[in-house]
Amino acid sequence: MINPVTRAAIALRERRRAPDMAQIMSAVPVPVVLIDVDNRFRFVNHAAEQFLGISASGLSQLRLRDLVPEDNPLFLLVDQVRRSGATVSDHDMSVDSPRLNKRGMTVQGANLPEEPGSVVLVLQDASAARALDRQLAFRGAARSVTGMAAVLAHEVKNPLSGIRGAAQLLEGSVAEPDRELTLLIRDEADRIRDLVDRMEMFGEKPIERSPVNIHRVLERVRKLAQTGFAAHVRFTEAYDPSLPPVWGNRDQLVQVLLNLVKNAAEAVTNADTPHGEIMLATAYQHGMRVAIPGSRTRLDLPLMVSVRDNGAGIPEDIRPHLFEPFVTSKPSGNGLGLALVAKIIGDHGGLIEVDSRPGRTEFRLHLPVIVDEESDAA
Ligand SMILES: Nc1ncnc2c1ncn2[C@@H]1O[C@H](COP(=O)(O)OP(=O)(O)OP(=O)(O)O)[C@@H](O)[C@H]1O
Ligand SMILES: [Mg+2]
Repeated sequence: MINPVTRAAIALRERRRAPDMAQIMSAVPVPVVLIDVDNRFRFVNHAAEQFLGISASGLSQLRLRDLVPEDNPLFLLVDQVRRSGATVSDHDMSVDSPRLNKRGMTVQGANLPEEPGSVVLVLQDASAARALDRQLAFRGAARSVTGMAAVLAHEVKNPLSGIRGAAQLLEGSVAEPDRELTLLIRDEADRIRDLVDRMEMFGEKPIERSPVNIHRVLERVRKLAQTGFAAHVRFTEAYDPSLPPVWGNRDQLVQVLLNLVKNAAEAVTNADTPHGEIMLATAYQHGMRVAIPGSRTRLDLPLMVSVRDNGAGIPEDIRPHLFEPFVTSKPSGNGLGLALVAKIIGDHGGLIEVDSRPGRTEFRLHLPVIVDEESDAA
């Protein structure tokens, strides 16, 4: 027999107690499911019922393999979560089965230590997956200028050096007032050559890779920036010193980060941003994997490099074409910086994500690290 005081105390505690976890999960507007050690659906929230098109009671009778073919990478992800106990996420997953047809899903899996073998899955056709799609499209765009760039570089460079040489010869023989004109020809010829040199970088050459210390790259870029175009900008750095080397081309990675930092510096160089700031960060992210188009291979991209600024943000009308060549909002811009970034990161098998709003623009690079044979086989 519980005495009335105790009963009142219990009632009070009940009222104060947080709402039931299942209720909270059901209110979460993102599809969440819990599967048990036999891959049976133990719990689904409302968003998951809608996403999967099956009611909770219907799902409680099913196993994962009733919805998803057993050779689907989703099973690998679930296995990986069980084996590693870590959170694993996978972008651009597709399920094509009689009961479920989804493309470009992002799936995150986490284990539930209290329920051995159980896995919580968060499903989304998320913006990250869409960003990837777009980036693949940009890669195509970059490639279409590849051929053009090669022809242009070849056809323009030779006559250009002729023009430049001729102007230099004239310089010695013309009267003083005309010398200004020959100098102008020379300077403009140099400007065209620089542009053509940049275009040439779009060429389809296989990249030479070696282990690259990304912090040295960032350090170099910051120094170059601070002694030149970003002398007035404050830099902050948040690096994870334990990062393994990137598997890439050092000079090209310098080029990539220089372009991103230059854009950031240009974005904070105006009256609206009196305290221009650029933040450079690196981190190790477990479970960041992408599909390689046209194959079943999935690539690990655990190394994240971020360049953030507090400028006005990317103009709305430019966003859909951000990585395409010749897209610019700057009077003297070529619109080649980000096209080159996309091309180089694409060649590295990496991925770029962009978040931009007024006061905060962030470009995140996801890059591969060296994988040793042993963990490759695992
Ligand atoms: N950090 C940023 N903040 C705001 N807008 C940006 C940022 N980075 C890029 N942009 C926008 O994207 C456009 C394209 O950038 P991109 O680097 O490709 O060319 P550009 O900087 O205009 O010219 P170039 O790099 O060839 O000198 C820019 O003109 C600008 O409008
Ligand atoms: Mg630029």
